[in-house]
Amino acid sequence: MPLPTTRTVAYGDIVLITGKDRRTFIRTVGEGKRFECHLGYINYDDIVGVPYGEQVATQMGHKLFILPPNTDDIVSHLQREGQIIFPKDLGYITLKLGIRPGVRVLEAGTGSGALTLTLALLVGESGHVYTYERRQKMQERAITNIRRLGLLDRVTFHQRDIERGFDERDVNALFLDVREPWDYLPQAREALAGGGFFGAIVPTINQVIELTEALYNGPWYFLEIEELIRRTYKTIPARIRPDDQMIGHTGFLVFARAVAREDRSDPDTAAGDEPDDASDDAS
Ligand SMILES: C[S@@+](CC[C@H](N)C(=O)[O-])C[C@H]1O[C@@H](n2cnc3c(N)ncnc32)[C@H](O)[C@@H]1O
Repeated sequence: MPLPTTRTVAYGDIVLITGKDRRTFIRTVGEGKRFECHLGYINYDDIVGVPYGEQVATQMGHKLFILPPNTDDIVSHLQREGQIIFPKDLGYITLKLGIRPGVRVLEAGTGSGALTLTLALLVGESGHVYTYERRQKMQERAITNIRRLGLLDRVTFHQRDIERGFDERDVNALFLDVREPWDYLPQAREALAGGGFFGAIVPTINQVIELTEALYNGPWYFLEIEELIRRTYKTIPARIRPDDQMIGHTGFLVFARAVAREDRSDPDTAAGDEPDDASDDAS
């Protein structure tokens, strides 16, 4: 795994390099190669064996920190084609889907692989990620990104439209990041184990409504609709306050659990399971 866990820099490590202006670069330490940026260059051979957290000078005398990157750094610097899921959502999605070592998780579409790589890091050696993407160019980009992290053996890539369904069965969790997720709920339910975790991200309320109606009328339970709002702060000790700009919107998150189709004719369950707005109408 090229993401470093050791105390000192080694060949093959993926490192974060940053200088006085805080511009950050993610690079792989290659033998006989060098890192170049607007502050000069550093030969990678000269940083191997250097403890992480130390500064190394470029040939122009600018000092750069060499640091181990976290998943946020990796995703933020990802080579991308189109929209990716943002780190603030990625973390929560993995928590809600119960992702941990040993889990088998399925996702579509792969896109640039931001969610794919996050899942692959978390499922460990004993788990697996199955990912579907209909566009070849996107899939190639994702494969390049996952290969760079040394995670290819944890991921199975399918290049096809998920309208045709999924090959896998009894997966523990399934996530959809496609324009019309409600169209693929039967396929998703077929692939998920009973009680399995379903999630989706959509950018508009209109899509949330379509998806919620489809989930509500299908074999799903524990519907949740959420939105995460993240505000960052200036870190100058004497003037700590919110940053002037923020990302106002990424997407709405919808979660549900895969169950047998609920029998709403049962008087013991029907009464307590009316949607909130139905009781609002009655009042
Ligand atoms: C927003 S991107 C996914 C981004 C990805 N989750 C990430 O974090 O990098 C949506 C992707 O879904 C793919 N897609 C849309 N509908 C699909 C379908 N029916 N079957 C397979 N892939 C689909 C698109 O080609 C696109 O690459």
